[in-house]
Amino acid sequence: MKLTIIGSGYVGLTTGACFAEVGHQVVCVDSDPDRVQSLVTGTVPFFEPGLEALVKKNVAAKRLRFTGSTEEGVNHGEVLFITVPTPPLADGSVDLTFMEKVAREIAQYLDSYRVIVDKSTVPVKTGERVAQTIRKYAKPGVEFDVVSNPEFLREGAAVMDLMKPDRIVIGGNSDRALALMQKIYEPFVAPVLVTDINSAELIKHAANSFLALKISYINALAELCELSGADVLKVAEGIGADKRIGRGFLNAGLGYGGSCFPKDVAAFIAISEQLGQPFNLLKEVQAINNRQSVRFLDSVREALWVLKDKKIAVWGLSFKPNTDDIRSSVAVSLVEKLVAEGAEVSAYDPKAMAKVRETSLASQIRLADSALDAAADAEALIIATEWAEFGLVDLAALRDAMQTPLIFDGRNLLDPVAVRDFGFQYRGVGRGI
Ligand code: UGA
Repeated sequence: MKLTIIGSGYVGLTTGACFAEVGHQVVCVDSDPDRVQSLVTGTVPFFEPGLEALVKKNVAAKRLRFTGSTEEGVNHGEVLFITVPTPPLADGSVDLTFMEKVAREIAQYLDSYRVIVDKSTVPVKTGERVAQTIRKYAKPGVEFDVVSNPEFLREGAAVMDLMKPDRIVIGGNSDRALALMQKIYEPFVAPVLVTDINSAELIKHAANSFLALKISYINALAELCELSGADVLKVAEGIGADKRIGRGFLNAGLGYGGSCFPKDVAAFIAISEQLGQPFNLLKEVQAINNRQSVRFLDSVREALWVLKDKKIAVWGLSFKPNTDDIRSSVAVSLVEKLVAEGAEVSAYDPKAMAKVRETSLASQIRLADSALDAAADAEALIIATEWAEFGLVDLAALRDAMQTPLIFDGRNLLDPVAVRDFGFQYRGVGRGI
């Protein structure tokens, strides 16, 4: 099938590459000429395992191409996917400027029947507004349908999540559009859930908020574990073994970050308020999440007494492993707080150093060449992101490199017993053991 993706960011590019991989003819549109130029040569502007190879392969096979022209995109695809950013406004609600703009652009070039798919994360009832906007600006009589098809991919596992999704959600009210959508997804072996548009839109915010809730639940339990001398890892295992609860997303730590959960929880609260029924449970989810890094920093401060002039190593700056994304990274905000208190921070991340160099933080900390280099002469080491390579560091070499062998493990990556055997003082999150 001929498909068009409008917006070649994280979701758009990965979706386009995966659709091409299963045999569709895909055109990806982006308004940034530099991005289009680099994608034409197969260069992906961010790190995502497996994506660049997939893009290169499908560009070479002539199933995937890039353009800056929305007109070309609208002419090409029978189905047009909108995957533009939906950033937060100051009050937490969603800024739909890009959605509205793309809807108007599509309308301008629409000559014959198209399905317009809303794939960006949007508030419930956005599909209705997209349809109204297209109707308003399109030539009279031109036919189209609007469908909601939320995306559930995780950064760092995006290709796998798209190729083998847990489920595909398609929300629409036209049989013609739904049939085309089902055809697109035929090559993907996954259960398809067909709903109305509003339900599909709500599912996305509800799913992300529920996952955030699980994280805050285990983080609140972590606090109780610390106070009572219990081990949150064992508690997570014990409750997670119940299939109705599940072990996933019960990893206590510094709290959730990234460009989705903080934004989507805030948006869902704003949506609930607009609907007249404030979702107060989610406000507590936010409060617990914010408290997690505050509590962690308190424990570092308590151990070092004052942070000013203290040499502190930080491992991990990306918001989670296997990505170079530092947007809303808890690790970065922790480093900023350490710097604000006058600590001398040496930081290392396996993939995110280039992204950090583009920020003002780069001039305020030492950017180390390796995990061990960051730890040289440090009075404390903070593990802020659980990259696998940090778990493989030679503990004897680490102890010898540090001024004081003190580890604050914000992601419970290391085994406390093994680490203490090497002479370290160790503090994890929720590990009252
Ligand atoms: C999240 C969802 O998992 C995806 O399903 C969704 O499609 C995506 O948002 C989106 O809306 O686009 P992502 O933000 O890439 O994906 O990352 P996650 O793996 O969900 O992690 C989010 C944050 O939660 C990270 O900061 C991570 O460290 C934290 N986390 C995750 C925990 O603190 N504990 C856990 O047990 C799991």
